[in-house]
Amino acid sequence: TGKFTYDPGFLSTASCNSSITYIDGDKGELLYRGYPIEQLATQCDFLDTCHLLLYGELPNLEQQASFKKLVTNHTMVNEQMQFFLRGFRRDAHPMAVMTGLVGGLSAFYHDSTDINNPKHREISAIRLIAKMPTLVAMAYKYGIGQPYIYPKNDLSYSANFMRMMFGTPCEEYAPNDVLVRAIDRIFILHADHEQNASTSTVRLCGSSGTNPFAAIAAGVACLWGPAHGGANEAALNMLEDIQRNGGVERIGEFIKQVKDKNSNVKLMGFGHRVYKNYDPRAKLMRETCHEVLSALGLHDDPLFKLAMALEKIALEDEYFVARKLYPNVDFYSGIVQRAIGIPVSLFTAIFALARTVGWIAQLNEMIADPEYKIGRPRQLFVGSKARDVKPIGER
Ligand code: CMC
Repeated sequence: TGKFTYDPGFLSTASCNSSITYIDGDKGELLYRGYPIEQLATQCDFLDTCHLLLYGELPNLEQQASFKKLVTNHTMVNEQMQFFLRGFRRDAHPMAVMTGLVGGLSAFYHDSTDINNPKHREISAIRLIAKMPTLVAMAYKYGIGQPYIYPKNDLSYSANFMRMMFGTPCEEYAPNDVLVRAIDRIFILHADHEQNASTSTVRLCGSSGTNPFAAIAAGVACLWGPAHGGANEAALNMLEDIQRNGGVERIGEFIKQVKDKNSNVKLMGFGHRVYKNYDPRAKLMRETCHEVLSALGLHDDPLFKLAMALEKIALEDEYFVARKLYPNVDFYSGIVQRAIGIPVSLFTAIFALARTVGWIAQLNEMIADPEYKIGRPRQLFVGSKARDVKPIGER
């Protein structure tokens, strides 16, 4: 391969040193700063997790209160953002809107755009974490033609998000604790995942010295794809499609299609570059499914039953066994979100909201690393040798 190592898809290239997230793909283990995801998801809340990812440690009581205060101080967005939002069609995909709005933040917060200034990095981190729920809820309300609901800072991060999503000015919104806890858990499970495509995009984008808002907007854009964050939307659409076409009875035919090399059909929410075992986030998501559906009296939700039947059949099929394909986080997260009342088209925007903290933690780690340089992959050139331009009549 000549002077450079050829590694398409970065199957064997480590792009950085990182001390944030550890994955053991064979064991199905995920740790944020050393803490198992199972413990964080059951004993901490999302803001504790943000503190951990950003500063390296879980907060003590005092730090917890001051971090919450800091974040809630920044939950509003500049009123002008409403006019920017209004330029979109009402049926715009929320991820198109989010890519624009997040990038647009750089135009509003000039005092936090110098990526090389640690103070700017700190304040842009807080602003992004604080404003993402407001922006996602605004994108949703705009799409359905309802008034925006302003943040309410005496609520928890996740209860505030639920209120901005589902509240109206007509009546006080009372968040259901089980649903708030479920959405908080979704945020925790999606908060970071080391050097995946969107995180690597954020690092590469930020390595040019661009501002943090622009780098995070690049991450949002990358996350949108169905092989990455868009898989939650694609997985739910797939389940609904199977349900419409015969439900559990249809699974056999569907699996046959997936296994057909010429079909291009994938079992969405299955498979992972790093996990060659059950994704620990999928296990927690499946538990959350049970909790949410029983809290809502939907024990017999046909889509959840279908998903479990599909999982069972796939895990016993030699195609999936041989390739070590297991459910990933996206397989069950859609069912939880749908039960909460979140429309399918918003799923990936919620993933982006949650991943924002991971992107920023990774970006800040890169900038603070004395070895960091602009990212500049090389290539193996396989095109034409030097040649002369012919006059147009001779081409
Ligand atoms: N359904 C059917 N076959 C699959 C699937 C799937 N979901 N995933 C992988 N395979 C097959 C693939 O066709 C290949 O088969 P063969 O060796 O015969 O050519 C083999 O398994 C290895 O797959 P790969 O595509 O080389 O693996 P990768 O590491 O490049 O891709 C992936 C990983 C996540 C993109 C892929 O598994 C996939 O497309 N899954 C479905 C989309 C999805 O659920 N994505 C969410 C990932 S987790 C959350 C996130 O990252 O946002």
